[in-house]
Amino acid sequence: MHTQKNTTIKVWDGFIRSFHWLLVLSIAGLYFSADEGMIELHFVLGFFTLALIATRLIWGVIGSQTAKLSSLIHSPIAVFKSFKTNAQPIGHSAPGSYMILAFFGLIITQLISGLMSSDGILSDGPLAQYVSSDTIDFANWIHHLNFDILTYAIVFHVLAIVIYKIKGKPLVKAMVTGSTTHSLQPGKQVTKAPWLAWIIFIILLVLIQSTWGREPLSYLFS
Ligand code: HEM
Ligand code: HEM
Repeated sequence: MHTQKNTTIKVWDGFIRSFHWLLVLSIAGLYFSADEGMIELHFVLGFFTLALIATRLIWGVIGSQTAKLSSLIHSPIAVFKSFKTNAQPIGHSAPGSYMILAFFGLIITQLISGLMSSDGILSDGPLAQYVSSDTIDFANWIHHLNFDILTYAIVFHVLAIVIYKIKGKPLVKAMVTGSTTHSLQPGKQVTKAPWLAWIIFIILLVLIQSTWGREPLSYLFS
């Protein structure tokens, strides 16, 4: 009889894992700050999220094999096949990839609409000055509507993770530690050291916060 040998393999590099949990924290902070009317904090967190997502997309081109954006492209048929078989791919599954592309789209929409939004009192997103007041109204509308859709997507995402867990695929541990046990290709290296991602992130963060973030930051720390 054929016996499967499970080996431990590293699937998510340090940047992908930090990206994920920092994204969770920033979205919680963005919701909280908007709800409490702490608009300066909202802006600073928004710029942080912008640097985070931009770095993730760049890392999706130059980063680890399991971070590649090209590895997120699957046919819809692959989604059904993935539900039928019990195989766990190294990296994101086909249904997971659709979920992630949806998240990227929703978060980018939230960021761009936020940059053109206005609270109608004192604070305008940094791009609001370049667009008409109709566009600002539209951006505000999108910013509210899209956040509701993002919330549904998050609920769906967490439910999916719970269902996978019940079906015997614990995914959270790998997103925390980076490693998972796998029966395929022992010793195969699918992650890169993340230092370049961190350098890119720090550069983008400093650039954005020192331009658009200057005013809200000085308000927060005064
Ligand atoms: C992923 C990133 C973001 C998320 C999740 C987010 C979320 C939210 C939420 C939940 C609200 C409150 C909506 C409501 O009252 O129902 C809000 C309002 C607002 N956001 Fe964001 N936001 C993000 C990024 C940004 C960015 C980058 C900016 C601009 C720099 C921005 C500017 C604003 C403004 C001006 C408002 C107030 C609109 C109003 O007073 O009605 N947001 N945001
Ligand atoms: C604000 C809420 C959340 C957002 C926006 C979010 C977004 C994402 C994104 C974008 C990815 C893909 C990671 C990448 O390759 O870049 C991902 C993966 C993942 N997330 Fe979340 N997430 C959220 C909350 C959570 C929570 C609360 C959990 C834990 C219960 C969780 C567990 C996971 C796991 C395990 C994966 C990897 C799935 C796989 O193995 O393919 N997420 N999430």
